[in-house]
Amino acid sequence: MTPELAGVEMDGLTVRYGGKTAVEGLTLAAPLGRVTGLIGPNGAGKTTTFGAVSGLVPPSAGTVRLFGSDVSRRSAAARARLGLGRTFQRPEVCPSLTVMDNVALGCEALAAGGNLWRQIVPRRNDTARLRTQAAQALAACDITELADAPVAALSVGQRRLVELARVHAGGYRMLLLDEPSSGLDPAETARFGAIVRGLVAESGAGVLLVEHDMSLVMEVCDYLYTLDFGRLIFAGTPAETRASAAVRAAYLGDDDDALSTVDG
Ligand SMILES: Nc1ncnc2c1ncn2[C@@H]1O[C@H](COP(=O)(O)OP(=O)(O)OP(=O)(O)O)[C@@H](O)[C@H]1O
Ligand SMILES: [Mg+2]
Repeated sequence: MTPELAGVEMDGLTVRYGGKTAVEGLTLAAPLGRVTGLIGPNGAGKTTTFGAVSGLVPPSAGTVRLFGSDVSRRSAAARARLGLGRTFQRPEVCPSLTVMDNVALGCEALAAGGNLWRQIVPRRNDTARLRTQAAQALAACDITELADAPVAALSVGQRRLVELARVHAGGYRMLLLDEPSSGLDPAETARFGAIVRGLVAESGAGVLLVEHDMSLVMEVCDYLYTLDFGRLIFAGTPAETRASAAVRAAYLGDDDDALSTVDG
């Protein structure tokens, strides 16, 4: 195995909403070239952790490092420019635009960077380059044939792939994916997992994945962190996680379906 390169690392991350502690003292590492899973029952603090990593939610304590640099005080935009991309728990796509336009939008903001004028009037060769990048991302996500379709006409599964293509087209080195398989059927979920693995293998990017679908998690993740009530209760390989009594106990009573798919 090649040595791990730093992607996202956090140390003692704590997030409070008013008096409520949503994440407490979380330490984890999601390296480049790997798919790292963040799992746990509803309300465990997974999306909050993503918010703190991407810079949208201010932590009360702890540090976040990106590619080895402390970004705890950097804005969300600065973190994105360093190469951090994310998808949201609810798909954020523009339904009236075509698939190609949605994906091209993913790279546009990054290409224009902080230059407001270029955001308004992109250079002609920028536009051509963005189209090429977008076309490559569509191919990587196996949706080339949908390029000209309006997103409004797509299934949920296809929209999830558009979203993935959009962050991929942005050239991000580290991707945070929040429940990308929600709304997908088992066949679409399996395909989604294979595409994520393919992207990581091909681009060397790192993925931090929040996911409830245990079969997908077990299939695509190299390593898993399990949260419950904001605290890390287990860290290990998928096989170790599946065997953990603490993880089983956390899922018991919360979601019996999740537990049964842990049994696989
Ligand atoms: N903006 C907010 N203000 C106050 N409390 C919040 C806010 N966002 C989340 N919480 C609370 O913080 C805790 C963690 O929520 P979070 O959304 O991070 O969990 P999650 O693991 O992503 O859950 P799910 O699996 O349901 O998406 C929950 O108790 C939630 O109610
Ligand atoms: Mg969530």
